[in-house]
Amino acid sequence: MEDYRRILQHNREWAAAMVATDPEYFKKRAAKQEPTFLYIGCADSRVPANVVTGTEPGEMFVHRNIANVVLPSDLNAMCVLQYAVEVLDVKHVIVTGHYGCGGVKAAMGSGSHGLVDHWLQPIRNVVRWNQEELEQLPDEQSKFNRVVELNVLEQIYHLSETPIIQNAWAKGGRPHLHGFVYDMHTGLLREIATDVNSQKAADELATRRLSGVPAGPPPVAGKLQPPPQTPAIDVGSGELADAIAKRVLDRLAAVGVPMKK
Ligand code: CO
Repeated sequence: MEDYRRILQHNREWAAAMVATDPEYFKKRAAKQEPTFLYIGCADSRVPANVVTGTEPGEMFVHRNIANVVLPSDLNAMCVLQYAVEVLDVKHVIVTGHYGCGGVKAAMGSGSHGLVDHWLQPIRNVVRWNQEELEQLPDEQSKFNRVVELNVLEQIYHLSETPIIQNAWAKGGRPHLHGFVYDMHTGLLREIATDVNSQKAADELATRRLSGVPAGPPPVAGKLQPPPQTPAIDVGSGELADAIAKRVLDRLAAVGVPMKK
């Protein structure tokens, strides 16, 4: 049998089996959807969302892409998020990464992979910002596993920064954000972040995500850099400079900016 015919055959068998256990199975589910979860995971074929979570049709809204990245500039992800949070009113948003993720591995290497390198850039930042911790790990496999975990934390933080989540939290502390990592060798999900449902919880997560350095703007190469000095504006000296300064001060006073005497 051709491969794609096998899919149709299995589909008929599955539908028949469902109806055999409950004649109303599809009728009930077709009427409406009230999913409890929004799952954001990797597109990897070895991590099928409903299969590994044991969820039925109607229980989980799903968004998948390479390496489970959440970006506010991703129209697709933001539409899914908004619909899930504001219309379906999901209780939980779960970012699920997986060990052995090809996307994460590509982001850790120096090779060029074409268009996908643009997509993976946020993960390169995760590697860069956590260089200090990663360098302390004993081998490449441990580093790889850790970047998979840090990437999940990073994407939860990205979620927490979206106006969609911020507005939902302001209304009632929902949804709760969670982070899982799937182990393809055991079939088990590991919980690495749970119940992030406030700015405070998200900020604590940011401290973990940038391990070894405080939360805040990303440091360069894992080290905190002093803020750049703002160069003073040189208007020269003499009457012209005084005249310019007076005009600027008069203008500021006219628009109500308080002045130091
Ligand atoms: Co993956």
